[in-house]
Amino acid sequence: MRIAVFGAGYLGATQAACLAELGHEVVGVDVDPAKLATLDAGEVPFYEPGLGDVLRRNVAAGRLRFTSSHEQAAAFTGVYFLCVGTPQKEGEFAADLGYVETVIDTLAPLVTGPAVIFGKSTVPVGTAQRLGARARELSPAGTGLEVAWNPEFLREGFAVQDTLHPDRLVLGIDRHRPGRAEEVAREVYAQLLAEDVPFLITDLATAELVKTAANAFLATKVSFINAISEVCEAVGADVTVLADALGYDVRIGRRFLDAGIGFGGGCLPKDIRAFMARAGELGADQALTFLREVDTINMRRRSRMVELVRHTCGSLLGVRVAVLGAAFKPDSDDVRDSPALNVAGQLQLQGASVNVYDPKAMDNSRALFPTLGYAPTAADACQGADVVLVLTEWSEFRKLQPGDLDAVVRNKVLIDGRNCLDPQQWRGAGWTYCGLGRP
Ligand code: UDX
Repeated sequence: MRIAVFGAGYLGATQAACLAELGHEVVGVDVDPAKLATLDAGEVPFYEPGLGDVLRRNVAAGRLRFTSSHEQAAAFTGVYFLCVGTPQKEGEFAADLGYVETVIDTLAPLVTGPAVIFGKSTVPVGTAQRLGARARELSPAGTGLEVAWNPEFLREGFAVQDTLHPDRLVLGIDRHRPGRAEEVAREVYAQLLAEDVPFLITDLATAELVKTAANAFLATKVSFINAISEVCEAVGADVTVLADALGYDVRIGRRFLDAGIGFGGGCLPKDIRAFMARAGELGADQALTFLREVDTINMRRRSRMVELVRHTCGSLLGVRVAVLGAAFKPDSDDVRDSPALNVAGQLQLQGASVNVYDPKAMDNSRALFPTLGYAPTAADACQGADVVLVLTEWSEFRKLQPGDLDAVVRNKVLIDGRNCLDPQQWRGAGWTYCGLGRP
């Protein structure tokens, strides 16, 4: 099939490359010429394991190319995927739908025949219905232009796997005008459906809500274990052992029960806020007041970490802090709302001298926090350190041995913000080890 993907950011670039990998002929559309040139050359403008191979293979095979021309994309096909960002609005909880609306306003007038726009961006419930009406109004194709919603659940670090082997596919269609969306989607995803990936057809609102509810649940699970972690600290219990024990209950499950400095990134924090804002507009704000607590618990993890460093070192003034990890999670170079970088910034603002190292997120970190110190390796960051903080659980840090740092640091003090190291090993080597929610 011929498919045009609008937005060549994290979601769009992955979607375009993976649709080409499924055998389709794909054109990716974006307004950023630098990004397009990078992608056309077979380079991924961000770090995502495995995506470069898929991109290069399909660009070389002629199945994938990129353009800034909406006209070309509209003329190329009648199957469109909407993959632009929906960031948090400046100074508000609500999502900014500007990019999504711009694509509809630009594309719809160019569509002259039957066509389907599949929205993948995370949007407040009710958006798809509204965009559908707007698209029909603006397009010469009128009711021949359909808007359906096909939310994306990919995780950074696993983007290719999650797109080519998803847990499920969800498709929201306009029940008042069912049209061809389901039939087209079945053709687009034929290969996945042949592999028995569950395929749920819903109305538009349900499809939009599935995505926001999934992220709200994940955020709640992380904040739940972090709240329990605070109680563990108060009584000297161990949250990691507790999480293992809870996890054996299949109703609960062990995943997303890692206590630490909490969640960040481009999705969970802004999505729970946009969800609360939308519920408020719908008069259902009471239903989601608990998400404010989820957010508060999460943000408290960051200040708790800063306090722990202050308490451990006696003061922050002039203390040399090594920060290992800046990305919001491992296997990503994304520092949007990163707890690690937030902690590093707070420590510096309160008088500490901070040296950061991250395997992939150095450039993004420098751009966001240019005043922090940056070191080329973990050992360099730890040079003369009074305290070492592990704030993102990269495998490089999980594998660290006390012997790697013994001769480098000034004081053998380690605070493990992700509970990813073995306390006994470090204590056995003469280090002071502190985890979060562990004795
Ligand atoms: C998330 C959703 O998982 C994905 O389905 C959705 O499409 C986009 O948002 P992502 O932002 O890539 O994906 O990150 P995720 O793996 O969900 O982790 C989110 C944050 O939670 C990270 O900061 C991570 O460090 C933190 N986390 C996760 C914990 O603190 N503890 C855990 O046990 C799990």
